[in-house]
Amino acid sequence: MGDEYFEVLKAKIYKDTGFDFSRYKIRPLKRRIAVRMRANKVKTYEDYIKLLNSKADEYEKLFEALTVNVTEFFRNRETFDAIESSVLPRIFQSKNEKNESLLKVWSAGCSSGEEAYSIAIMIVECLKNLPGYRFQLKIYATDLDKKSILKAKNGIYDELSLKGCPSQYIKKYFSINHKYKISNTIKNIVEFRCEDLFYDDPDLRNLDLILCRNVLIYFTKDFQNDLFSKFYERLKTGGYVILGKVEGMLGDVRKLFQPVNVKERIYQKL
Ligand SMILES: C[S@@+](CC[C@H](N)C(=O)[O-])C[C@H]1O[C@@H](n2cnc3c(N)ncnc32)[C@H](O)[C@@H]1O
Repeated sequence: MGDEYFEVLKAKIYKDTGFDFSRYKIRPLKRRIAVRMRANKVKTYEDYIKLLNSKADEYEKLFEALTVNVTEFFRNRETFDAIESSVLPRIFQSKNEKNESLLKVWSAGCSSGEEAYSIAIMIVECLKNLPGYRFQLKIYATDLDKKSILKAKNGIYDELSLKGCPSQYIKKYFSINHKYKISNTIKNIVEFRCEDLFYDDPDLRNLDLILCRNVLIYFTKDFQNDLFSKFYERLKTGGYVILGKVEGMLGDVRKLFQPVNVKERIYQKL
């Protein structure tokens, strides 16, 4: 398949959708485009460009193929256990000492919202056991994918996505009618935005905690490092960033963060 037309395709997708190929590892992207080409029985990039111009819903399908949205409530439960036992108590204590009243979290690359709602439930539950601690809790959750953000805003899930969610939380925070609907108590804490990770959203500043799990894996090393610098700018000193289980911080960026729990990929801004 001619690379000359691959460059044309990249430029076209960027112009039409803002999806910037240069940030992502190229081989997985090519594999996903090939899936769409096969589905349309198209053999060359040149013909696929023509198809994108003529077939109304192909962009939507391509975008779905390019972004991997797999997620679930309390994904990698052991990471949430570590957040509960060692991250949240330290954040609460520091807020109390500094007399701060707002706790700000960002779920970056939140897909359909399960991660953001999970951390909201966990923080609300932890604060219930600490009656002396009174914080306003605000969780921002962003993703590039419009469809995922719509689903997140709806807050309705199937049983499978809740398989890792503790049953007492299901009883307390979901209404069940074939599907599982998140309660307004939790919904009102989370604000979803369809936004690129690199976008400088003024609300995403002075953060206490960033969850960016299973997102960086798709980016080139250079862009991963650019993102770590962004996380550094957006976090409070002493704030935390949590990556996915197969992600990590390498190279110079390690001067900016100290590992708190290497296994669970928890780092703290120095
Ligand atoms: C595999 S999901 C991870 C969901 C959740 N964080 C988790 O660990 O379960 C990866 C998400 O990253 C999003 N994503 C990829 N590139 C992005 C970008 N540049 N800006 C915002 N979101 C992005 C995708 O749309 C997808 O929903």
